[in-house]
Amino acid sequence: MAPSPAPGTIARFVRPDRLAQRLADMATIGATEKGGVNRPALSVEDGKARALLTGWALARGFSVETDGIGNLYVRRPGTDPSAAPVMTGSHLDSQPTGGRYDGVYGVLAGFEVLEALEDAGIATRHPVELVAWTNEEGSRFQPYCMGSALFAGKMDLEMVLACTDPKGIRVKDALAETLALAPPMPVRPFGGAAAAYVEAHIEQGPRLEAEGKTIGVVQGIQGSRWFQVEVTGQEAHAGTTPHGARKDAFQAALRMVTALNELMHDPDDIIRCTFGRFEVLPGSPNTVPGKVIFTIDFRHPDAGVVKEEKGDAITPLLQSLAAPCAVMVRETSTTAPVDFAPAVVEAVRDAAALLGYPHRDMPSGANHDAKFMAPRCPTGMIFIPCKDGISHNEVEYASPADCHAGAAVLAETLVRLAGA
Ligand code: GLV
Ligand code: MN
Ligand code: MN
Repeated sequence: MAPSPAPGTIARFVRPDRLAQRLADMATIGATEKGGVNRPALSVEDGKARALLTGWALARGFSVETDGIGNLYVRRPGTDPSAAPVMTGSHLDSQPTGGRYDGVYGVLAGFEVLEALEDAGIATRHPVELVAWTNEEGSRFQPYCMGSALFAGKMDLEMVLACTDPKGIRVKDALAETLALAPPMPVRPFGGAAAAYVEAHIEQGPRLEAEGKTIGVVQGIQGSRWFQVEVTGQEAHAGTTPHGARKDAFQAALRMVTALNELMHDPDDIIRCTFGRFEVLPGSPNTVPGKVIFTIDFRHPDAGVVKEEKGDAITPLLQSLAAPCAVMVRETSTTAPVDFAPAVVEAVRDAAALLGYPHRDMPSGANHDAKFMAPRCPTGMIFIPCKDGISHNEVEYASPADCHAGAAVLAETLVRLAGA
């Protein structure tokens, strides 16, 4: 058995210039005028990003595989053929007005670790496997985190493939088009054993920057529930139809939003409730709206609040306010809060301390694929600061030094978990 590399060895092989260049190269795919990216899940841009990563992986001699939802796995073998992989990764898809770091940073930090392991000639007992999960964001196709949820056995593939985007395009068709843009590769079944999973990500909030900390040692992720609400009324002439005779879908939706804001009012400002999509149809100034489609994203760290205290009240409340319109409420995603494994949390904290980075323990307000991996294997996350805490925005920014720090901490953590 090879001796374990001395603590701190692998971090010296993590190259900030290479990571920064790869981030810049990826940011050209789906680049927006304001300096961000628009790389929807299972789009042409998503396909190009996968092709770029696959090319880099093959050029370094790593093996690549995919699965029935297009998760992309890049593997560096270990010395023990019976050992399950230690996994790392995140996502390549973005918000429509997304930044250059959300998701892609974790994928490229993981790839940088694989390259650093190669450069250092370090043999690990467990394989180290990078995964770019399909559709983490959920902005084009709901439910979010399709790739990691299918890997973890928490969703049904046929259900997922039948989901449609707002234009009616099915996941199944978009997936086929996207995969055709990357070289063909072996297809493996979902799941399989994983020894551990560690995901690096920008914080997407203001705490690390405000406190001058470089590394967030993430302890878990709050729960969240997403709903799609369809209110149906009746189109009518805006100039002639008396208000008392209208079935105005917008007015019904407005009552619902007002009541939900009251339900979710929280003096402690811990509840998160967002109406991110709001479509009023047919969208004509002089037609009473016949249909409104809107979404609800509700989150809280406490399982009781996510479930019975607030979450379970949403649908009945909407139904009680619909008349004279009709309402259809569909819950598109449901995830309970998760706690990460103490051993992984400790490994991340130790790595940050070893490398001398100021760090703090913290929860994650955002969802991540790590949420689905947590029940499956010991899981943890590493956060780095982002400027002004801004994310899901084209101006999102993380400094090269912080990107490097997160990758170095990831490398030390993975080497410790993958063993010699
Ligand atoms: C992912 O970005 C999420 O938290 O919704
Ligand atoms: Mn993300
Ligand atoms: Mn995101």
